Amino acid sequence: MNITFKMDEPVGSSLLDHTRQNVISRPIDRIEGPLKVAGRARYSAEFKFPGMVHGVLVGSTIPAGTITGINETRARALPGVLAVVTDYETFLRNPGQGLETEAPAQGVREIAYFGQPVALVVAETFEAARNAAGALDIAYAPAEARLDFRALQSEARPKESSQKSQGDLDRAMMDAAASIDAVWTTPSQNSAAMEPHASTALWEGDTLIVYGAYQMLSSDRQQLADALGLAPDKVRIIAHYVGGGFGAKLGISQESVAAALAARALNRPVQVVMTRQQVFEATVRRSETIQRVRLAAGADGRLTGIGHETITANLPDEDFSEPASASTQFLYGGEARRFGNSIVTLNQVLSASMRAPGEAVGMLALEGAMDELAEALDIDPVELRKRNLPPRHPMDDLPFSSRSLAECLDHGASAFGWADRNPRPANRREGEWWIGQGMAAAARSNMLITSSARVTLGTDSRALIETDMTDIGTGTYTILAQIAAEMLGLPVEAIDVHLGDTAFPAAAGSGGSFGAASAGTSVYLACKRLRETLAERIGATPEELVLSEGMARRGNAAKPFSELVTEPLVATATVEPGKTEENFVQAAFGAHFAEVGVHVHTGEIRVRRMHGTFAAGRILNEKTARSQCIGGMVFGIGTALTEELVHDTRLGTIVNHDLAEYHLPVHADVPRIDVVFLEERDHAANPLLAKGIGELGISGAGAAIANAVYNACGMRVRDFPLTLDKLI
Ligand code: MOS
Repeated sequence: MNITFKMDEPVGSSLLDHTRQNVISRPIDRIEGPLKVAGRARYSAEFKFPGMVHGVLVGSTIPAGTITGINETRARALPGVLAVVTDYETFLRNPGQGLETEAPAQGVREIAYFGQPVALVVAETFEAARNAAGALDIAYAPAEARLDFRALQSEARPKESSQKSQGDLDRAMMDAAASIDAVWTTPSQNSAAMEPHASTALWEGDTLIVYGAYQMLSSDRQQLADALGLAPDKVRIIAHYVGGGFGAKLGISQESVAAALAARALNRPVQVVMTRQQVFEATVRRSETIQRVRLAAGADGRLTGIGHETITANLPDEDFSEPASASTQFLYGGEARRFGNSIVTLNQVLSASMRAPGEAVGMLALEGAMDELAEALDIDPVELRKRNLPPRHPMDDLPFSSRSLAECLDHGASAFGWADRNPRPANRREGEWWIGQGMAAAARSNMLITSSARVTLGTDSRALIETDMTDIGTGTYTILAQIAAEMLGLPVEAIDVHLGDTAFPAAAGSGGSFGAASAGTSVYLACKRLRETLAERIGATPEELVLSEGMARRGNAAKPFSELVTEPLVATATVEPGKTEENFVQAAFGAHFAEVGVHVHTGEIRVRRMHGTFAAGRILNEKTARSQCIGGMVFGIGTALTEELVHDTRLGTIVNHDLAEYHLPVHADVPRIDVVFLEERDHAANPLLAKGIGELGISGAGAAIANAVYNACGMRVRDFPLTLDKLI
């Protein structure tokens, strides 16, 4: 049984609101959690095969130029060395981007950034390979490199597709009762997933099998096949568990291609694990940004104009530009509008999607500007936002599919105790600390991506879910089991979930906050199809059918699955985005509140507490959803206060290329964080009526902190991260 469903119309209702099994939304523990804490969940670098050998990548030591020669003599003479792969033309210059189905990037012709992988040394052990990697002699002809973003900003080229304009913003600024026109800057950042990029490659005949730490397996398979000149059905990628991605594993990275080449040359399994430094130097980063935000408002606080223009950087010929104005375009009204990005060409590693590309840094600027406007107009920041919620998309004139932003602002304000805040900056002191409170809205676009799953109802009253969807630590295993359990009237323990293998039906993958809703819908649809068959078998209409405790019921009549299912029942379902994508603005919303202390003498900033109220349609599991939002808010602390990738503008190196020196918030930096979800259903999003939350928690969180810092000490810093040197 195969079905395809296209999301062309809002759906009237979801079966999940009628099945009454009390499984969906429940905060149950991760079903794969025990495997993980016992070390029995195997990650890509943990697979071992007979005869397996190890490869270590060698990166360029210049940021721009060409290779004039590679001398392997010294490296090959070292003990244990088996091969040196130097046909780097086949290597990727860059990891691919998610969702791309064409070859992700050109092979290597020139060196485009420091650390770009140009060779792989393979040896019997990792240590021997690492030793020999250091003995590979590479001669370069350096070229002039473009390394200084700020110095080169005047050379930024506009990205045409991002330019949008309506009305006369300059006029609106001149006529405004109050206006803000300022520049915010955010630094280069690294996704910093816990698990480094790793691939274990082996060939079975002419088929390549890669155990790879990736987020979106079906497009990753396409990219790997393209890079190696193979048909996609000759490539299989397996990623049962992935230790975080945050964008850096959307596309394949160089170690997979190199491992595949070496495995073919040696006819042995080859494992290549990037070092942390290689992850930083050679995968992806978030671009630094320079953002000009303009707000024009009347004395009543209503916006008459809004502008958000951004300069980012990327490698030569790369088109991705951090879409910092993504949510600015629909969050607030104002007739005159201008948005646009431009790109500086830079010899730094690819800049690409990372943790809420767009909103994560764009809302630092927008929500900072809104805070400044609130102060200029002497209007409460919560009230200012509520006054500016547009009834429809301000440029496209589309309705919102659902938007409980005002409710989130009200609920969050009340839960946080916002009414007690002193709006005058530098007015609350406790001992050596200035105390301040700030808030910001949260918004993150919602998407549906084509996704397939197969569900098999066995003769043993168990169900099996198979899809190449990944679980990157987010809870996919658990929510898919909950959806099937709810739909089939089985306990969660009776659902087996098999993910992360391109041998299964192709899923959306994990990215862009679309994974749960897209993959979840495919499971829902397959289960719905199975329900129809069960209904037929007991002579019920689908509406009359009740499934619970492994029984199919119609009124008082009941039959166990064991009688109804004598051969396994299999349904494969695919969901595709349709017209609701074009006909509605879809986003999840929320409100962030933060309290900080700023040390009177040192300028040290401590976050004291955070609160987030969110509305994202149906919440599929209140525990995993809450964990995701907390994780996002923790990264909000990083964005506001600690994270900054430092590029050496003379050598092109990354100065802080590891987790010791690239400062993510750690336990000592993270206070109590409260998360509340408001009840909501989104009928235009998908048949689950759910929206994505993966990246909602980070969107706006850092702005609430920065606004709290201003409220604490009266210093407005627009250059992120807010390190203490900027406060004294
Ligand atoms: Mo996300 S930055 O689409 O993994």
